Amino acid sequence: MTIELKNLNKSYGKKSVLTDVNLEIKTNTFVMLRGVSGSGKSTLLSIIGGIEPATSGEVIIDGRNVSSLKGKERVDFYRHKVGFIFQGFYLQPQLTIAENIALMGCFAGVPRAERHERAKKLAEDLGIADVLDRLPAEISGGQAERTCAARALFMNPEIILADEPTNNLDPENAKNVIEMLQKIWRDTNTTMIVASHDPMVEKYASQVVSVQEGHVSSDMKAQED
Ligand SMILES: Nc1ncnc2c1ncn2[C@@H]1O[C@H](COP(=O)(O)OP(=O)(O)O)[C@@H](O)[C@H]1O
Ligand SMILES: [Mg+2]
Repeated sequence: MTIELKNLNKSYGKKSVLTDVNLEIKTNTFVMLRGVSGSGKSTLLSIIGGIEPATSGEVIIDGRNVSSLKGKERVDFYRHKVGFIFQGFYLQPQLTIAENIALMGCFAGVPRAERHERAKKLAEDLGIADVLDRLPAEISGGQAERTCAARALFMNPEIILADEPTNNLDPENAKNVIEMLQKIWRDTNTTMIVASHDPMVEKYASQVVSVQEGHVSSDMKAQED
């Protein structure tokens, strides 16, 4: 699953946020999107994930120019390709952990019994099987992070996008979250893109993409292990 951005620009009104971005991300890469607050990381993730359209330029995923996808075709494409782990958690407070994990399956018409089986399997993999019947308010912060990761994995995406997943965490919990993402990346062969201003994330990444005032530059790193 290669991701290519070509001559990409994004503006909000007159404000240019991303300027002539050219970037290639090869399949199964762990990418850190690095940059200070306001540099354009979340915007870039939203464009890659199909949430925001670019103002101009091309987004090519798996050899397909996805900028031209419309309607149901577009929804189906992203639903099976991309899993999001958002900043903050956005778990649905009235749904159980099992129902939160399986939420995308609901929209995609996955039958109830199958949804339950898949949610259970993911919860076991991530060590949260014992809280499946609880509500988000009844679990710990670490369990909520695992729930979000399980929810992102539910449709077996090939790309996982995580926006500032270590924000507001103390160093030990930040390390736990990144190591969880690293394990998911290794176990599932996904392309993992993590936006973060936390320098600690860099040592887990195989490609570091720097975003500076809307300009993007990329470095491949030699793997340490
Ligand atoms: N919906 C929007 N409307 C107008 N400006 C926006 C919008 N989203 C982001 N921006 C602006 O784009 C710039 C980049 O934002 P963002 O991508 O969120 O940066 P980062 O995630 O690196 O902090 C900021 O100046 C921000 O104010
Ligand atoms: Mg952001």
